[in-house]
Amino acid sequence: MISVHTGNILFCFPVLVVPDVEPASNRWLINVPSKIPAVQGSCVVIPCTYVYPKTNKKLNRRRAFWKTGNKIVSTNLRKWKLTPEFKKRSLFLGNVRGGNCTMMLDGVRTTDVGPFYFRIELPRYKTYTFSENTVTIVVIRSAPPPSLSVEVLDKVTASCSVSHSCRVMPPRLTWSRSGTTTTKTKKLNNWMWKTKSVLTFVPLASDFNKPLNCTVRYRGGKKYVDFFPSLSTQKPEVLSCITHLRKLDRPSQSAKKIKRCHSLLSCCF
Ligand SMILES: *[C@@H]1O[C@H](CO)[C@@H](O)[C@H](O)[C@H]1NC(C)=O
Ligand SMILES: *[C@@H]1O[C@H](CO)[C@@H](O)[C@H](O)[C@H]1NC(C)=O
Repeated sequence: MISVHTGNILFCFPVLVVPDVEPASNRWLINVPSKIPAVQGSCVVIPCTYVYPKTNKKLNRRRAFWKTGNKIVSTNLRKWKLTPEFKKRSLFLGNVRGGNCTMMLDGVRTTDVGPFYFRIELPRYKTYTFSENTVTIVVIRSAPPPSLSVEVLDKVTASCSVSHSCRVMPPRLTWSRSGTTTTKTKKLNNWMWKTKSVLTFVPLASDFNKPLNCTVRYRGGKKYVDFFPSLSTQKPEVLSCITHLRKLDRPSQSAKKIKRCHSLLSCCF
């Protein structure tokens, strides 16, 4: 630790004498969300980073623990025997040396609310428990269905998305109709992610009068379906288009009519 600043040091390391700005590494700090929603049965990733007061000591074998009450939930020590409650369900994902204490809990149970807190042991230096920065998991028994939107031009473009806190094994989105699909997962914030699937296809006569379904399957088995047409998602113009096409749906006529107009738009407007 440097306690005396000579003129030379001042010029060489001006950052050391900036008043009032305490470098983060002089304190014990942790960055964790205080609350994370998670779907029952699925996984949840608790993002976590920490810093500790600087030391010149060589720090080998850091021991990191996630705890709730007196129970150990997860650790970076590979050989540690976890209790049956958390064994094979928790995984320490972070690189402790790099200040990363991220952990994952799988097969989320209604009892997994926490509060969870992090403890770090730096042998021959210090041990610190971040007991003031706890994480609570809000366990959701019935997750919201995916949100579906459909745009009908020459092609049908349907998007179905769902937000979640299980980045490692995100929910799977599937469609009731074939077509070209692309799926992407985007970060919403440190702990929430949005997985979105986009389906495109050229509508056929056989598509009319059929709902288009998007199904989400969470890790752990929970499943939800959203379908189109659904009153909450459809735009008025699409609704009138579909109603119009349905009116034409007397077997012989409709197929002819739809074949004649090359796109759905030109059929409707
Ligand atoms: C911490 O580790 C996790 C898991 O490897 C990683 O996804 C995340 O990006 C890391 N966080 C930071 C701030 O580096
Ligand atoms: C689509 O969803 C509707 C309404 O839930 C259901 O009746 C129908 O069987 C589903 N179709 C397919 C192909 O999954």
